[in-house]
Amino acid sequence: MDELAATLKSVGISDVPQFPNAHPNINPIDIYRAHLTEILAPISGVDAKIIYPALQWTQTLDKGDLILPVPALRVKGKKPNELAAELGDKFPESPLVEKPLVNGTFLQFFFKPASLTKIVLPSILKNQESYGLNPFNGLRDAADASKGRKKIVVEFSSPNIAKPFHAGHLRSTIIGGFLSNLYQGAGWDVVRMNYLGDWGKQYGVLAVGYERFGDEQKLLQNPIGHLFDVYVKINDVSRAEKEKTDPLKKEIEDGKAKGEDVSQKEKELERLLDESIDEQARKYFKRMEGGDKDALAVWQKFRDLSIDRYKKTYSRLNIHYDVYSGESQIKEESMNKAAKLLEERGVSKVSDGAVIVDLTPHSKKLGKALVRKKDGTSLYLTRDIGAAVERHETYNFDKMIYVVASQQDLHLAQLFKIEELMGNKHISDKCQHINFGMVLGMSTRKGTVKFLDDILRDVGEKMHEVMKTNETKYQQVENPEATADILAISSVMVQDMSAKRINNYEFSLERMTSFEGDTGPYLQYAHARLCSITRKADVPREALATADFSLLKESHAIDLIRSLAQWPDVFQNTLKTLEPVTVLTYLFKMTHMLSSSYDVLKVVGSEPEVKVARMALYETARQVLNNGMRLLGLDPVER
Ligand code: ARG
Repeated sequence: MDELAATLKSVGISDVPQFPNAHPNINPIDIYRAHLTEILAPISGVDAKIIYPALQWTQTLDKGDLILPVPALRVKGKKPNELAAELGDKFPESPLVEKPLVNGTFLQFFFKPASLTKIVLPSILKNQESYGLNPFNGLRDAADASKGRKKIVVEFSSPNIAKPFHAGHLRSTIIGGFLSNLYQGAGWDVVRMNYLGDWGKQYGVLAVGYERFGDEQKLLQNPIGHLFDVYVKINDVSRAEKEKTDPLKKEIEDGKAKGEDVSQKEKELERLLDESIDEQARKYFKRMEGGDKDALAVWQKFRDLSIDRYKKTYSRLNIHYDVYSGESQIKEESMNKAAKLLEERGVSKVSDGAVIVDLTPHSKKLGKALVRKKDGTSLYLTRDIGAAVERHETYNFDKMIYVVASQQDLHLAQLFKIEELMGNKHISDKCQHINFGMVLGMSTRKGTVKFLDDILRDVGEKMHEVMKTNETKYQQVENPEATADILAISSVMVQDMSAKRINNYEFSLERMTSFEGDTGPYLQYAHARLCSITRKADVPREALATADFSLLKESHAIDLIRSLAQWPDVFQNTLKTLEPVTVLTYLFKMTHMLSSSYDVLKVVGSEPEVKVARMALYETARQVLNNGMRLLGLDPVER
């Protein structure tokens, strides 16, 4: 007999009936769903297959542990509230659940504490870091693991080389990292992809700028910062040039209108334009597009050095990519193929030398999209069209997510529609844009923000100051700098994930670094406190599994266990919402329960048996908190 069967026998259940998507070994609540279904099917006459999925988890425990909206049973000829009352009446005595509360058309089920404790705590102790995860979600065939797992491409962060890493990239990084973890935990095969902005005329501008302002030493030291400086400088020069040529153009026009001889001025303008940064950049980029080795070598160096640096920063956020792709990587051939399809299907048309796709017949909002410039060069959108086809060929994904700011809603909507129109509905149907709002007021102490490293450094300094305000606790931290750094990262991430993605939020150093309120440092503190309890109690791990769970009687203990039991369902729900806040809300609720438990459920100083049982409770709480934090991409600290 396996462990679960033994546990169930000890609480008076002989076996758990099988249901699709029921995994009693990893989700204790599934035991309750199956049990309730088994009871409700005969007394309602409704098929078990309908009852099982209708049993829902609750957001607040005072509503019960599971809830059944009776209308979901789709029983004809009976009023739902009458049926609810009838089912409530007929519900027999059970070892697992109390008689349901009838609340209008809802049945509310409360788990019996004694059996709950015995079922939930061992499950967490056994599953450990995988408690809550559900690898069955990603199976191609739920009944047959040998058919393999589904594949998802998560494209996120995607900054532009030589340009600021702005708040939009930060949010994309945080949310995309989280979504990758989520799908991985759900058993999908995840490809983490960074799609760099690394192509276009601006890289011609950068190369020309580097010839003039570049410094090899600085480039090697700080490639991202240096390339940005070069880019700013060369753009200043270019702007100054335009300040000369623009008036000259106007003079020529005016002169022509008056019938004056402007040939001298025209020659001058031509000379200026010919020598301009703009023209040099255009030529340079043309060389790049033409595959010129020297031109490409310079660009490649910029790209490689930037990626090296990005990697360091991402690893501070616990993020590692499988692929550094980018706009530069999209083959001309893929784009041409796409263009041909669009033309053949009469989707695109030539307008004024350029190629456009008029999407207004499909939706006014989608407007007209430019897919080829007059000079034949590709655009951001063109490259995205090619990229989608290439990725589908390479990965044969089941799903692809683009984590991009809502400022690009139109761009992605156009992309998906165009894919559909060119005959690739099978691809666009698998694509999803995960969008998000803006960060307001993000600036460093020294001015406006440029790079992720600057933000993290700033928050780290602030965090260090906050930590120093509590001298005694500060003394206990072994490596304050490193801890401040981790806490700073948690601060930024939790602040970002504290509301629905689509909301804008105000970047507030003060609020995010506080240990009070629902912040990253608060979660870290809660985790460190649990670790400290473990250290002080010094109960061997083996003893926890055989603890006498019946000693956990206090309502604080029971409510905490009920909350811990919900974690696998929270995970499942997060797969539906794809919102990090779903996880955070749960973690804050759970940690609030924890902090109100410490005074009631003391470990040190309790009777030995009670001590072990409570330690098992705190250890499982620590495990759930740890699992939740890691899912979000946080690095839980122990002190
Ligand atoms: N590099 C782009 C930017 O910074 C974001 C790329 C988004 N992804 C995409 N496939 N278009 O705006």
